[in-house]
Amino acid sequence: MDKYVICGGNRLTGTVEVSGAKNAAVAIIPAAILADEPCIIENIPNISDVSIIIKILTQIGASVKMINKSTIEVDSSKIMEPTVPYEMARHMRASYYFLGALLGKFNRARVSMPGGCDLGDRPIDQHLKCFKALGAEYTIEHGMVGLKAEKLVGAQVYFDIVTVGATINAMLSAVKAKGLTVIENAAKEPHIVDLANFLNSMGADIMGAGTDVIKIRGVDYLKGARYAIIPDQIEAGTYMMAIAATKGDAIIKNVIPKHLESITAKLEKTGVNVEEYDDSIRVWVDKPLVKTNVKTMPHPGFPTDMQPQMAALLTIAEGTSIITEGIWDNRFRYVDELRRMGADISVDGKVAVISGTDKLTGAPVRATDLRAGAALLIAGLIAEGTTEIEDIFHIERGYEEIETKLKKLGANIVKKAIPGSTLAKAL
Ligand code: EPU
Repeated sequence: MDKYVICGGNRLTGTVEVSGAKNAAVAIIPAAILADEPCIIENIPNISDVSIIIKILTQIGASVKMINKSTIEVDSSKIMEPTVPYEMARHMRASYYFLGALLGKFNRARVSMPGGCDLGDRPIDQHLKCFKALGAEYTIEHGMVGLKAEKLVGAQVYFDIVTVGATINAMLSAVKAKGLTVIENAAKEPHIVDLANFLNSMGADIMGAGTDVIKIRGVDYLKGARYAIIPDQIEAGTYMMAIAATKGDAIIKNVIPKHLESITAKLEKTGVNVEEYDDSIRVWVDKPLVKTNVKTMPHPGFPTDMQPQMAALLTIAEGTSIITEGIWDNRFRYVDELRRMGADISVDGKVAVISGTDKLTGAPVRATDLRAGAALLIAGLIAEGTTEIEDIFHIERGYEEIETKLKKLGANIVKKAIPGSTLAKAL
């Protein structure tokens, strides 16, 4: 097993390039199952969550060719059995997109109950409600979700809460259903729009993605497509926080500034300067950082996936900041780790109160999940002395070459094997 060792104190300067969006890639790659011809997908991030999705695809019979480091060709014509093996899928959340994609293509699917970061209760009731509305029966037995439909027929689906995963699964399962499906109270995240664009480029008829009503008219045939995944909004946001926290001055390339608006707005409140260009932004700090309050919300609100990184920044902002988590029940597990580094944070349920301190100090810490790990990296970059972060497999699930990218920005960070540890579990 590896750990990151960071000597804090270096300002981040220079240029960093953002990879393709994780949460778009993990939906778009399974969506290629629905195509009746091969698809080429570009700008794929080289992260472990994507490797697992590709492994699952090949295990169920699809052929996946690596064209280059970030481009694959998926030919799903040889998939015979729409069952995803239990061990492969149970550790990651996005494995549930195989439910929607396989159901949409074969009218049946068997996939293990999804795993993913431990952020509190993560039910899939809204996914099941949608599959049922389209005509599928479901079973949950021995850890596997089974779906079966005689045929899928378009339906009206109203989500009780705004859910990214169920909105994506609704599009995947309805795209070839007979007639019109209307999804109400849909999620509006950039990756929802990206998936709809990918499916439409294959010949699907999806309208309204990016608003809270999505209309899908089923089609019989989906042709192959060549499609490039959008840049990762959360990876970009993480670098914005890291540059700001180190009082640096750097350019982040390959971004869609519009997707970063809620993050930019909050950073500006803390005194950070952000300048937007066509597909890049400059972030720099020339005055002391000050407190702000943040509440996470579905897009276009401030993303929950940026909440821990924002907290890391606010630990050294003047004054008392309040962070309210509006999506997940339990997304403050990283707070104990930040406290080891001298952060002054108290948590009551879904609210964290952060009193800014002059400095953090390096300490041995553990990444409790993906974004928590990103927050600890940021804390390590600003802390006095050495920070050692363990359980970095969480970080590698979602950030491509983060150590290399941070080094290029001037950070003092190395990845080291933990002496005496066995190899990290693949998942
Ligand atoms: N929910 C239900 N029932 C459902 C589905 C969701 O009650 O059937 C609830 C959840 O418990 C949660 C809320 O609805 O309270 C929102 O969940 P959502 O379905 O939107 O989340 P998700 O699809 O499981 C994706 C991202 C997460 C990100 C959330 C919110 C992927 C693979 N994961 O999860 O990303 O936090 O949307 O934006 O796309 C991350 O990247 O670090 C990450 C955790």
